[in-house]
Amino acid sequence: MEICRTKSDIRTAVKQWRAAGESVGLVPTMGFLHEGHLTLVRAAKEACDRVIVTIFVNPTQFGEAADLDAYPRDEARDFALLEAEGVDAVFCPSVDEMYPADTQTTVVTERLEKMLMGELRPGHFKGVCTVVTKLFNIAQADRAFFGEKDYQQLLVIKTMVRDLDIPIEITGVPTVREVDGLAMSSRNVRLTPDDRKAALILNKALAFADYEVSDGRTASELEEAVRAFIAKEPRAQIESVDVRDAATLEEVTGQITAPVVILLAARFGDVLLIDQRVADPT
Ligand code: PAJ
Repeated sequence: MEICRTKSDIRTAVKQWRAAGESVGLVPTMGFLHEGHLTLVRAAKEACDRVIVTIFVNPTQFGEAADLDAYPRDEARDFALLEAEGVDAVFCPSVDEMYPADTQTTVVTERLEKMLMGELRPGHFKGVCTVVTKLFNIAQADRAFFGEKDYQQLLVIKTMVRDLDIPIEITGVPTVREVDGLAMSSRNVRLTPDDRKAALILNKALAFADYEVSDGRTASELEEAVRAFIAKEPRAQIESVDVRDAATLEEVTGQITAPVVILLAARFGDVLLIDQRVADPT
């Protein structure tokens, strides 16, 4: 497995593969890898001849410096996991390599940028779109793999690729969970044992929402019911509960008649967790 810290190193590797007619898959991550990330890697390995994983904790998508500083990192462990998966190259640039002085250009999806997580974290998706565009341009891959856990992120990236005619195919991968149902996340290690238990309320609330959705309810009634469900867990500080059109993320007025996505964000201690589930009323 090649470890590339500069853009020119990874470009040299990719050039050789492409010259040999091999297809290239890309899995962008911020490291501290878990089974969720590794599931994306396996999907990429299955679909492509060569696989690149990027590890870069992107400062431009973090609102609070404290959140960026607290983000867990363990490069040696990540490399060992990726080597075992048979990954061909890891791209792990420094912040200066990705954002040299006088970097000025950003990428914004106008509508999606401002809603939901984008409203709670202004500039977050601009940071994601900009770094992902850069990674696409650097890696020159045929396909890239993203988790459905970050539902809005996946939609933002698909929209950006469509709107800017970026020559890459985006594949979404279903959320990977711990055996007890907690969605895997690099942030889970920061939960105290009590908060780790309490956080199970998120997946339970999604199962509850899935059951309730066929009940002819409106989106706002369902949001209220899910909020009340999560509020039964005193350790959960709800940030947002949204029931939106699964295809567009627009608000749903009246009874739910088409697939919706239930998007949850809640803090346990100082750890912000998100989870999601698509529910079909029919
Ligand atoms: P990160 O949070 O490291 O996630 C990397 C990829 O793994 C994302 O596509 C995310 O949706 C996916 N992922 C995380 N947990 C998952 C789970 N439990 N099941 C399935 N997939 C999961 O998302 C980012 O990094 C960054 O925003 C990035 C796209 C790398 C841009 O900086």
